[in-house]
Amino acid sequence: MIELSLPNYPRNYEPHFKSFKIAEMIKIYSNLDYLNQFAAEKFIQIGTKAIEKSGKFTVALAGGSTPKSLYQLLTTDKFCSQIDWSKVFFFFGDERNVLPNREESNFRMVYENLLKPLRIAEDQIFRWQTELEDVEKIAADYEEKIKVFFDLKENEFPRFDLILLGIGDDGHTASLFPLTEALDETKKIAVANWVEKLNTNRLTFSFTTINNASNIVFLVVDAAKAEVLREIIKGDFEPEKFPAQNIKLKHGNLLWLIDEKAAQNL
Ligand code: 6PG
Repeated sequence: MIELSLPNYPRNYEPHFKSFKIAEMIKIYSNLDYLNQFAAEKFIQIGTKAIEKSGKFTVALAGGSTPKSLYQLLTTDKFCSQIDWSKVFFFFGDERNVLPNREESNFRMVYENLLKPLRIAEDQIFRWQTELEDVEKIAADYEEKIKVFFDLKENEFPRFDLILLGIGDDGHTASLFPLTEALDETKKIAVANWVEKLNTNRLTFSFTTINNASNIVFLVVDAAKAEVLREIIKGDFEPEKFPAQNIKLKHGNLLWLIDEKAAQNL
């Protein structure tokens, strides 16, 4: 049942999952501004703790349109001085198979709205090198970069302090789309993924990488996501159809930040 709280403040929603528990916490906000305020505070809180603990903050960012306003908010006076950005290392949970200067590039969206305004140094940014053209090479190159950065041994996976995710209206997350091969990947950190319905290759973290994170925050807004969100959170467990259902942390916090419109069917 939904505990009603003050308007504009997050309502905690403890869903009665039919067959599985995918989220410790689901917070519902009256609009994107309030959601972003909380998300920015969460970003700073997780980052500050990570820097205190290990001297750095590793974050894998989401692409698409939803997180753009959050990235912009993080560059405002209210937030930009709340963390030592020189200790933040930026990765991308997925990428489109386009050059970094193309409109569709997740890197370009993040660069323009977060990295450039904050003047983040190049050696703190780890993007998919899509100029390598061959998607298998791009994925292998990115996997190698991550292994070196996290100093991983064979069969080890990185533990990102935070991974931001969105969901598509078909239930995909990152570029793990329904009925695609990457859904079954358990050995690799980063893979290429042919997406028939888009008639294109995408690049994405595997579930194993994502589910090894210390914190995951989903950002989901707009009525267009209401039906798929109901399926993901309250429907039967069908991760082939709704890949976002496969996001479940072994050790860490999973948080869904949702606006009222997206939550209307919960
Ligand atoms: C991408 C994203 C993708 C995104 C969802 C939601 O490359 O598009 O990584 O997983 O999070 O498609 O996108 P919107 O925020 O644009 O609805």
